[in-house]
Amino acid sequence: MSHEIVEKNVGLMAVLILVVVSFGGLAEIVPLFFMSETTEPVEGLKPYSALQLEGRDIYVREGCYTCHSQMIRPFRAETERYGHYSVAGEFVYDHPFQWGSKRTGPDLARVGGRYSDEWHRVHLINPRDVVPESNMPGFPWLEKNLVDHEVTPKKLKVMQTLGVPYTDDEIEGAAAAVEGKTEMEALIAYLQVLGTAIQQR
Ligand code: HEC
Repeated sequence: MSHEIVEKNVGLMAVLILVVVSFGGLAEIVPLFFMSETTEPVEGLKPYSALQLEGRDIYVREGCYTCHSQMIRPFRAETERYGHYSVAGEFVYDHPFQWGSKRTGPDLARVGGRYSDEWHRVHLINPRDVVPESNMPGFPWLEKNLVDHEVTPKKLKVMQTLGVPYTDDEIEGAAAAVEGKTEMEALIAYLQVLGTAIQQR
């Protein structure tokens, strides 16, 4: 009888469906906020240095994420190519994370240490100098622009507010740490640390 009421009343049915679905969703999502696997950093994970953090901002500004993901899925084809699959604890200091799913270029989650700084420099100025078939654009201006060191301490401070364990000394020294560095140096410093917290292949 009561089922008939629900079946004949579309509005009521929609509300009840929403309730059922949200319970299912909550049961899946809520535990993630409390599991140490997803909330604690993996062993050895360090907050980005001032220079790396600036590099990360350049990565976002230049839209590298529109062609590169930073998440290795737990499948054989992925782990053979890129190394250990990504785990949540590697990204707890990333605000916002750069996982993505668009792969015009390869995943970069473990690119740290794979190439020399010089390789990256040449590649970022003109990718075709090292990978002839590449369709990645060049970013030659990074070599000429200096990092705006005056805002760096503020950036670390914001991260600290978001829970990244920067010390006050690190924040104070942040401007000096990046002063005179080019955006190229910052971006490469960032690329070189990606995925290095856990075991490489
Ligand atoms: C239009 C798409 C596109 C954009 C935007 C782009 N890339 Fe790429 N990237 C590629 C492609 C395609 C490749 C593979 C060919 C090559 O190595 O150049 C690649 C390769 C790379 C590699 C080598 C990865 C490896 O494992 O061999 C790195 C590092 C890289 N890109 C960094 C960047 C950075 C940093 C930016 C932003 C400044 C960026 N890319 C922007 C398409 C792109």
